[in-house]
Amino acid sequence: MKVTIDNITIDVEPGTTILQAARQIGGDVTPPAMCYYSKLEGSGGKCRTCLVEVSKGSEKDPRPMPKLVASCRTTVMEGMEVKSVTSEKALDARDGVTEFLLINHPLDCPVCDQAGECDLQDLDYAHGNSGTRTEFVRRTFEKEDIGPYIQLHMTRCIMCYRCVFTAQQLCEVREHGILDRGERSQISTYLNKALTNEFIGNVIDVCPVGALTDKTFRFKNRVWFTKPLDAHRDCEVKGCSGHVRLWMRGDEVFRVTARRDEWNEVRDTPDGRKGWICNTCRFHKKKASDWIIDGPTKIKRISVISQGHYLNLKKPTDTFVPIMGRDPKHLLDIHTVSEVNKTDIDLSLLPRPAHSTDFTTGNVLPEAKQINIQESNS
Ligand code: SF4
Ligand code: FES
Repeated sequence: MKVTIDNITIDVEPGTTILQAARQIGGDVTPPAMCYYSKLEGSGGKCRTCLVEVSKGSEKDPRPMPKLVASCRTTVMEGMEVKSVTSEKALDARDGVTEFLLINHPLDCPVCDQAGECDLQDLDYAHGNSGTRTEFVRRTFEKEDIGPYIQLHMTRCIMCYRCVFTAQQLCEVREHGILDRGERSQISTYLNKALTNEFIGNVIDVCPVGALTDKTFRFKNRVWFTKPLDAHRDCEVKGCSGHVRLWMRGDEVFRVTARRDEWNEVRDTPDGRKGWICNTCRFHKKKASDWIIDGPTKIKRISVISQGHYLNLKKPTDTFVPIMGRDPKHLLDIHTVSEVNKTDIDLSLLPRPAHSTDFTTGNVLPEAKQINIQESNS
């Protein structure tokens, strides 16, 4: 089928949604998606951030669609024409949806572990206002401990249902879900159960905000100070890809996550397996020696995580030595004329720090002596 999005025409398979077609084109044309997750059956249709304008329904019925549509839930028709970033209406609606999502969301990015890799933060940079019009008290919930692995911050949840689909589709038993309705709806286990299923850690990767974070990484580091590396191991747990991303600082592994693709979704392995990982890989393999390192992770240049990330770094050519004819460490060549050091010692050429045996005792200048006395008194 031929579909045109923002004046770019592509051929797609029947049954493709507008969002999937836009992802095939890539770049700015692709609408943001806070609830749709291509790896989770039934996801999408909850958040409305992916709204687009359909200016021509199809070749057979060219009338425009009367309302903006959720691109993650609308399949393309032959000859359909869609406006995404070229539609003022769609952009205005996305701004509105962003404002709604933030009505109850706390502005705690400075202390949130998701900061720097949060889809809502990125959405707000693209579509948010600089101020808030909210005058109401934000929702609060009673804190619920959901076990040793996952930290639940219900106030940050945007009700995307991704974690529920993940638990339903990956775990043997689903032990959490959404309770109550409307403004009172919340993620909960209801019975204060610990979520310990072998694949439950994947909810951390699918959560677009900081509502579900890794308890073993909590407050340990900011993601942009860590260096992500792709790694793998032969994991014996059935269904675990063993392909991960290690978030390192020095030799220390601070966090283990699944690998993500350009849409921030868990990436399939090169041999076509699903990229989900088990709790053992995620929470119990925190030594670099547990892993075979594949190389540095490719990070988008616009991501804050790419600061301090030295992939493909080209070192500038050192011009000092060719021009000056000597090493920069010999630049301060002042001691050859000094009376402080022994005459046969050139302090600037020492391959080590100077120490007391290099200096002439009793030949120290009176002013220098005085300064030393003052310094030691202070
Ligand atoms: S906890 Fe996260 S993944 Fe689950 S519904 Fe809320 S925002 Fe979505
Ligand atoms: S991504 Fe389409 S409605 Fe949420």
